[in-house]
Amino acid sequence: MCGIVGYIGDKKAFPIIINGLKRLEYRGYDSAGIALVNEETLTYKCKGKVSDLENFVKGKNINGNIGMGHTRWATHGEPNDVNAHPQISQNGYFTIIHNGIIENYSRLKKKLIDRGYKFESDTDTEVLANLIEYIYLKGKVNAEIAVRLALTKVIGAYGLVITCKEEKDKIIAARKGSPLVIGVGKGEYFLASDATPIVEHTKSVIYLNDDDVAILKKDELILKTISNNRLTPKIQKIDLEIGKIDKNGFEHFMLKEIFEQPRAINDTFRGRVNVDFSTIHLGGLYNVIPKLADAKRIIIIGCGTSWHAGLVGEYLFEDLARIPVEVEYASEFRYRKPIINSDDIIIAISQSGETADTLAAIKLAKEAGATVLGICNVVGSSIPRYTDAGVYTHAGPEIGVASTKAFTAQVTVLTMMALVLAEKRNTLTEKDKLKLIKELTEIPGIIEKILKNSEDYKKIAELYKDASNFLYLGRGYLFPVALEGALKLKEISYIHAEGYPAAEMKHGPIALIDQNMPVVVIATKDKSYEKIVSNIQEVKARNGIVIAVVSEGDTVIKSMADHVLEIPDTYEALSPLTTVIPLQLLSYYIAVMRGCNVDQPRNLAKSVTVE
Ligand code: G6P
Repeated sequence: MCGIVGYIGDKKAFPIIINGLKRLEYRGYDSAGIALVNEETLTYKCKGKVSDLENFVKGKNINGNIGMGHTRWATHGEPNDVNAHPQISQNGYFTIIHNGIIENYSRLKKKLIDRGYKFESDTDTEVLANLIEYIYLKGKVNAEIAVRLALTKVIGAYGLVITCKEEKDKIIAARKGSPLVIGVGKGEYFLASDATPIVEHTKSVIYLNDDDVAILKKDELILKTISNNRLTPKIQKIDLEIGKIDKNGFEHFMLKEIFEQPRAINDTFRGRVNVDFSTIHLGGLYNVIPKLADAKRIIIIGCGTSWHAGLVGEYLFEDLARIPVEVEYASEFRYRKPIINSDDIIIAISQSGETADTLAAIKLAKEAGATVLGICNVVGSSIPRYTDAGVYTHAGPEIGVASTKAFTAQVTVLTMMALVLAEKRNTLTEKDKLKLIKELTEIPGIIEKILKNSEDYKKIAELYKDASNFLYLGRGYLFPVALEGALKLKEISYIHAEGYPAAEMKHGPIALIDQNMPVVVIATKDKSYEKIVSNIQEVKARNGIVIAVVSEGDTVIKSMADHVLEIPDTYEALSPLTTVIPLQLLSYYIAVMRGCNVDQPRNLAKSVTVE
């Protein structure tokens, strides 16, 4: 939520910051703004996207070798020009951009009003700017001390970039709860919410930790804690190619990412799965495998699509490894006094590794003494750093706000984990284990085949793009896929959609079915096949429109459904990896035909760093 970029060095800051903001726009696109340090600090900001900001500054002075930029996902105050960042303190001493939430802002604001401060915006960020300025002027301290003292009074989350008009040679950055990365160049430093704006300039980065404050001059970096303890910066090399964060000829990032899934899944199991020896090696879990195999219970936590992957994980762990699993929304788990035992294993799933609710749930579980594992996509993000051990998905940067390749990569990791545990616990025969391992390595090829049929999806999308509601049904392993299909559709096309376990339909959703209601049924051949055929009949008996995802060659469902989307058969445990692809494509084409902004759907953001 909110993307922030900063630059200090000898180059022109404007293009570096604008390009950086474009890479971070997936984090929010309600407004954009930039500040450039000159004799006077130049600040330009407006409601809308980074491209609107570019138009806005045309013909204006954009000089400066030091600057900051922001792309906003609104929390406090509606998206408008005034609430856009940067925010400037009342007397113009401090310019600041912020990602996060200052929870005690109204109390701080009241105190500042009592001391004569007036506010222009509705943002919590302006409160912080004025608080820093107040301390700076009242305490006659330097900018760094003013920032650190102000932050001791703040409750909430922040990634901050700050400049002071009386100390023009430096940028101050601080982090608590919201990510911030420093790029280390030669005689220059970069700052960003994640490494994607930095990677085209330098591969050397420093991930800030909570309570870190960095004071950057073009040739000096001082890192300390809020309470003024000096820290040694840990410079890491990142392995992120610029090509991976471009559209590579696709119309949208989402489509590119859907088509990347064979590669993403392959990269996720490559080097970990050995078909010849029927083994799976997950290096990141090496030390915790015995504990995991003895677990009385696994609790999986996540949000959004990652939670859906967690539901697939429940089926996998219980089916293959016979370990009881509970799957929780991180936001519910953290607030409902969960009973956590020290021998519980918590698995946190997150593409970004920064989701605020998931992070908070992890902290809670760790405090209760549980072992916490992470399944994350973004290397160096917060969740891998807070968890005891984990496995990275190697999906590569996911920019489309609606998650696609991250989901299949997460399910791939969960499948590998379940198979490792099944071996340790002796819950699968050697033959079955080998069959599953072998077929897991064939999944990328199967997805390639499904992706070749995009024309079929376009035709169905054309027919139903104007529907007001969709219902998605699945059973067993395919129930979470139904939820994910419905989420994809509503996220990007704004059509209301619900996912349901097919058998539950008769306890409510069946009342909605009429001749206008498309019902997407995921009905590949598995042990519930006969049952789901009956569910399809129930829909047809009420004149509903059935769009069924079926196994290649299926004739039974073909004779009753309005449309079938045939896909190659797989083992049931692997079917979420393939059946989700038609649903992603269908949502994508419907959203495009409705003229929606697929990569940046309204009101959403990719990395949800507020609770
Ligand atoms: C947002 C995104 C979703 C994502 C969810 C969880 O809602 O739009 O695509 O599934 O956050 O994010 P995470 O990074 O923790 O997987």
